[in-house]
Amino acid sequence: MALLNLRVNNIWRELHSAEGTPALDAIRGELGLTSTKEGCREGDCGACAVLVGERVGDIVRYRAVPSCLLALGTLRGKHLLTLEGLAGGTEDGLTPVMRAFLDENASQCGFCTPGFIIALTSWLAEPQVPDLAGALRAIDGNLCRCTGYGAIRRAAARLAERFKNLPLEPMARLRALVEARVLPPSVLEFAAESTDQESSVPQKNPKTPSLQGENAAPAAVVGGGTDYYVRNPEPEEGFSPFLTRMLPEFGQIQYVSDRGGRWLEVGAAVTVRDFFASPAVRHEVPGIERSETMFASTLIRNLATVGGNIVNASPVADITSMLLALGAQLVIVPEAEAGNNNAPLRLCPLEQFFLGYKKLNLGSGEVLKAIRIPALADPSLRQFSFEKASKRRNLDIAAVNTAISFRTEGGRFRDVRISLGGVAPVPMLGTAAIEALEGAACDVMDKKSLAGFARDAAQAAESAISPIGDMRGSADYRRRMVHQLILAHFVRLFEASGIAEELFP
Ligand SMILES: Cc1cc2nc3c(=O)[nH]c(=O)nc-3n(C[C@H](O)[C@H](O)[C@H](O)COP(=O)(O)OP(=O)(O)OC[C@H]3O[C@@H](n4cnc5c(N)ncnc54)[C@H](O)[C@@H]3O)c2cc1C
Ligand code: FES
Ligand code: FES
Repeated sequence: MALLNLRVNNIWRELHSAEGTPALDAIRGELGLTSTKEGCREGDCGACAVLVGERVGDIVRYRAVPSCLLALGTLRGKHLLTLEGLAGGTEDGLTPVMRAFLDENASQCGFCTPGFIIALTSWLAEPQVPDLAGALRAIDGNLCRCTGYGAIRRAAARLAERFKNLPLEPMARLRALVEARVLPPSVLEFAAESTDQESSVPQKNPKTPSLQGENAAPAAVVGGGTDYYVRNPEPEEGFSPFLTRMLPEFGQIQYVSDRGGRWLEVGAAVTVRDFFASPAVRHEVPGIERSETMFASTLIRNLATVGGNIVNASPVADITSMLLALGAQLVIVPEAEAGNNNAPLRLCPLEQFFLGYKKLNLGSGEVLKAIRIPALADPSLRQFSFEKASKRRNLDIAAVNTAISFRTEGGRFRDVRISLGGVAPVPMLGTAAIEALEGAACDVMDKKSLAGFARDAAQAAESAISPIGDMRGSADYRRRMVHQLILAHFVRLFEASGIAEELFP
């Protein structure tokens, strides 16, 4: 078996564990770095968070991810930082983030603390002005069962104040953080090493099918692993999946044109975090970034991919719901030719991809390479909204979700698409609700007529569905929530008209 080469804290290491081993097991087992804790092993608690550094174009960036759901193979050629590595860059074994926890008594049994330290260090490394709100978002995937969050909040506030003047240029920021001992010097060493394209560090997963030969059996596919490893927490020894994140061709966001038109193409291995951060995605779908924090936690968004959200085929997958409303098409390729840009493509409208509960229009040996969003000549005309109902505001899977997309042109609703999730075995389009709006006259300042359309669409959607009940909500609850969430789309998109008072006097 090929050895896996990565930088672990301050030295390069060759690991024997298989590519598909959850990184947490190799970190605690083969590497013996036990500051990284195992709590839930389901992505819910953040105790296992580690920092992963990678080169992205001209910069090196560090992000915190849950190592219990991370395929070890995706660390090939990257920099893994654990608490041992952070502490190793200091004289007294305490980085300023650790010191803030100590000074504010933000740790009691200490089991959750490494995860909080990693998540807050990742937040400081992001090129943005640090503030308390940002710090709290960064730790929205970390749970503490004994200290209480007040002390952790005070530690975060202390850090936001101390580091408010960090440079915004990414590499200058890393240098400043190394100088302040928040990050160890190995960060700068890794930045220098990873510019060397001729380095001995392999950039591709040697198990990728393009290198396996044409007759190789298709391997299991793992994107971010945030669904895969929840379902398969203990993969068999030697598990070596096809890792979509190791193929650069699967990680791009770019405009493409074909006979069918112009598209914004999002690689299947683009993470949820990068999807919402992408200037092209924000340009093409104005306002979509408002939906980001409704999806899981920062830790999960740093790892989960857009493609994994679709192929996992959950009826309440959030990105799938958004992409259905946007009229997305899937780009499907043979797994054996995944890394070949001239490989034959199969295009499939997203709504035709789901054939039944977890039954997909995806052949054995096929993989999802990218998702195409139709590009508009003037994207500022696109109206988009996403809503979901879940028991908790953060870190929860929806009971019901819905997205809407349309243009208002010539005073009429055009190209209306409304998705409904959690009301059938598959994510679906709300055809009846769409028909209630398409082509209708739309005066964006007439709150009475807008409220009428909102009620018509909501009623049409509610009447056309037959959801089942489960632990996330009864059938009746789901019908009512679909109704209310469609009204919420209108309130969000036509706020200036005063429609809220009309709908909810
Ligand atoms: C704590 C937690 C919270 C979550 N919260 C949310 C939430 O709020 N909203 C939500 O929608 N989801 C949520 N999820 C589910 C999950 O994070 C998402 O569905 C995510 O987008 C899956 O992406 P992934 O890359 O991690 O998928 P993976 O686990 O890598 O893959 C999922 C499935 O798709 C297959 N697959 C992946 N990529 C490809 C490809 N390119 N071609 C073919 N097959 C492929 C895999 O074989 C696997 O069967 C949550 C998960 C966790 C653990
Ligand atoms: S062990 Fe809980 S998120 Fe990984
Ligand atoms: S300090 Fe004990 S779980 Fe947080």
